[in-house]
Amino acid sequence: MDSTDYSSFRRKLLKWYGNDARDLPWRRTADPYQIWISEIMLQQTTVAAVIPYFERFLDRFPTVAALAAGPENEVLRLWEGLGYYSRARNLHRAAKVIVEEYAGLFPSELNLLQALPGIGRYTAGAIASFAFDQRAPIVEANTLRLYCRLIGFEGDPRSRAGQEVLWSFAESILPRVHPGRFNQALMELGALICAPREPDCAACPARVFCRAHREGSQLRIPQPKQKVVITHQTEASIAIRKGAQYLLRERKAGERWAGLWDFVRFEIEPDEAGSALPGMIEIVAEKTGFLVELEPQILELTHSVTRYRITLKCYVAKLIQGKLTTGQKWKWVPPAQFDQYPLSVTARQFAKRLQQFSISDLP
Ligand code: ADE
Repeated sequence: MDSTDYSSFRRKLLKWYGNDARDLPWRRTADPYQIWISEIMLQQTTVAAVIPYFERFLDRFPTVAALAAGPENEVLRLWEGLGYYSRARNLHRAAKVIVEEYAGLFPSELNLLQALPGIGRYTAGAIASFAFDQRAPIVEANTLRLYCRLIGFEGDPRSRAGQEVLWSFAESILPRVHPGRFNQALMELGALICAPREPDCAACPARVFCRAHREGSQLRIPQPKQKVVITHQTEASIAIRKGAQYLLRERKAGERWAGLWDFVRFEIEPDEAGSALPGMIEIVAEKTGFLVELEPQILELTHSVTRYRITLKCYVAKLIQGKLTTGQKWKWVPPAQFDQYPLSVTARQFAKRLQQFSISDLP
């Protein structure tokens, strides 16, 4: 596409957007706070999965001031299940900065937005254009794919050079009038029509401008990401029981899922379950200071964290004796109060199972 095509491309794209776009909650507002929350959530998962999280979050924290004043564990609780909790913590930190340094008013300039915790070039562009109608370019997963195909870019779009090409293309196509709506339309076209594996070129309003379509290269473009090598790991999660309460620990800064609560958890050898229970008892003693009596495994979960595929074996253990180690935040919590703590996803699943047992079921 050369620059003489831009105005006709924009017209076709906006017409299509007017007819075919989805009605999404964050598109009904120009409130930068709501747009920001939605964009951070959309970095984690799909539109359909985000909607209920978005609504719950805004019910509880309707303004940036409410978020800044809220306790971090409630923010994390509302984030539970979305993953990458550092994003939730950054939201909370950024809200405090906005209240303290900008009197609760969102800055509209790209460089000020980008200086806030957790706001990168894309999110700053999204907030500046959607909320303030600034001529700020955006490149995220959907637009990256769309731009690569439009310009027939066969290099690595995630390399430094590729990023430069895409960001300058994104800037060059922006209209002066309603750039925010135009950016939304680009993203929507990427999401609905210019899909990764099955782009619907026949329905695409941009096909006459698309180099990949002309050359038939749309399935090769964009170049795929480098495949990550998956590592399998086995871990044990131990719910230590004292009477009707279980031991929880707050995960520390620098650990996986920092700030969330979890049962005692550690890596074990894959074949250790069953036969090697004494080894686990020693690890529990080392981590907690407690001698425990381990009961048979009650649950097995699998989940993925970055490049790890984890099998998690869940046990209950009865406290026999000992004194809790210091240097950790521990809490004895009855199952009825688990819901008040932000838990890791697997700890929540384990907690739900424990809530189903009544104390009389326990040995
Ligand atoms: N993905 C990222 N931002 C989005 C938005 N504003 N609408 C739909 N999908 C998105």
